[in-house]
Amino acid sequence: MASIMIRKPLNLILEEAGQEGECTLKRALGVVNLVTLGIGAIIGAGIFVLTGSAAAQYAGPAIILSFLLAGLGCVFAGLCYAEFASLIPIAGSAYTYGYATLGELFAWIIGWDLILEYGFGAATVASGWSANVILLLQYLHVPLPPEIMGTPGTILVQYDGIWMPANSVPAGAAVAALPHATASFNIVAFLAICLVTTILVIGIRESANFNTIIVFVKVGTVLVFIAMAASYVLAHPQVASANWHPFIPPNTGEFGRFGWSGIGRGAAVIFFAYIGFDAVSTAAQEAKDPQKDMPIGILGSLVICTLLYVATAWLLTGVVSYKLLNVAAPVARGMQATGIVWGEYLVLIGTILGLSTVMLVMLLGQSRVFFSMSRDGLLPDWAGRVHPRFRTPYISSITVGLFVAIFASLIPIGILGELVSIGTLLAFVIVCAGVWVLRRRRPDLKRPFKTPLVPVVPILGIIVALYLMVSLPVDTWLRLVVWLVIGLVIYFAYGRKHSRVAALAQRPKQRV
Ligand code: ALA
Repeated sequence: MASIMIRKPLNLILEEAGQEGECTLKRALGVVNLVTLGIGAIIGAGIFVLTGSAAAQYAGPAIILSFLLAGLGCVFAGLCYAEFASLIPIAGSAYTYGYATLGELFAWIIGWDLILEYGFGAATVASGWSANVILLLQYLHVPLPPEIMGTPGTILVQYDGIWMPANSVPAGAAVAALPHATASFNIVAFLAICLVTTILVIGIRESANFNTIIVFVKVGTVLVFIAMAASYVLAHPQVASANWHPFIPPNTGEFGRFGWSGIGRGAAVIFFAYIGFDAVSTAAQEAKDPQKDMPIGILGSLVICTLLYVATAWLLTGVVSYKLLNVAAPVARGMQATGIVWGEYLVLIGTILGLSTVMLVMLLGQSRVFFSMSRDGLLPDWAGRVHPRFRTPYISSITVGLFVAIFASLIPIGILGELVSIGTLLAFVIVCAGVWVLRRRRPDLKRPFKTPLVPVVPILGIIVALYLMVSLPVDTWLRLVVWLVIGLVIYFAYGRKHSRVAALAQRPKQRV
């Protein structure tokens, strides 16, 4: 029993973090790379896709309050991540923080749970990416068989010359009379993950540069929308004020449908839009000056994205009535409403490019967590092997890429997305708890960045995360439990027997 609760000694972690050489990751990332890495992971399907349905179904114009609520919860967690990432700058992120503070079993659980955030996160975004690419290809008259356009069983119909999921057909259309097809494999999502994995294997610098370029395009797209929508709102103040009224539409009688409970439900849905700032912490071993730059990377990207999100949500609901926003590409719909014809295409292309970096950073995070788990002996050695030339954990990246590509092409986006949210929130709870525990246990440690107001901030982070978790459906909880049970079986069958920390603890004089 004792060995499963064993903690990894901090001096050992810090020693590993400081190692250099051919078998280690390459320290190539500066502060700009880290901030753009965060933005690369954060801005994606959440803002470009989910904002519309959350406003239309749950919060109305008050979706801006949902964004602020979810953003606030993330800031609490972000402050805790920042303390850990500067104190323990190692690729394992929450997994290693858990190992240092709560013990090996928790570390395993959190490492396994992070697959839900990063692995399934990349799969979710690949699914959203494929929907946009397939739409663009069809606009360009590229012939594609509908059978390869979705996960198995997805019913597609051809409306106005475009194949789309049957539930996206505009209201009023006679769906039964349209040509139908059933999809069996989402090939675009599969190929997207393969492509991103290739970039990741080639190198961290190449990956970061690719990410930085696309982040500028992505942020540029959001800024163009903000500028166009703001000038529309200024030119048509009566339209905007009618759209913003009532700001909090009255509750329909059902919990979560408008009113204050709708703002909460909207926040739970929109939380997905913020996921990714913590992925910066998995690049800690590739940062040139992690102590100083990690907090800036994590908090800087979070604050920038929160401001962009709030402005986008506010203007979007001013330009178009929230009732009309339940569409696959709401920001493009907003552009259309401003009358700028090229704007819709710009947003579509910006979305396609933008989502590619979300996949990139998520997959980067996943392979780095596996890298750390393997170095600790909890996963086999191959997962920690670094390519001698590229200096990337290539076997881990390729294995992760293959599994994620299969998930993305076979599992529906809704199931994936909710698993990502619950997995990420669980990681936030453990990281917030970990900061508090370590402050009490090791108050002496020199912390380059200190979370303010401990324990208030970690407790608030835990409360917001638990509140958002509770608002997710029961099915998602059941899937989480099944996932964690599978993880525990693997831990007891393999990890526990191969743990290097446990082995070292049995030879106290030599190391610990
Ligand atoms: N925050 C990321 C997105 O919205 C996961 O796509």
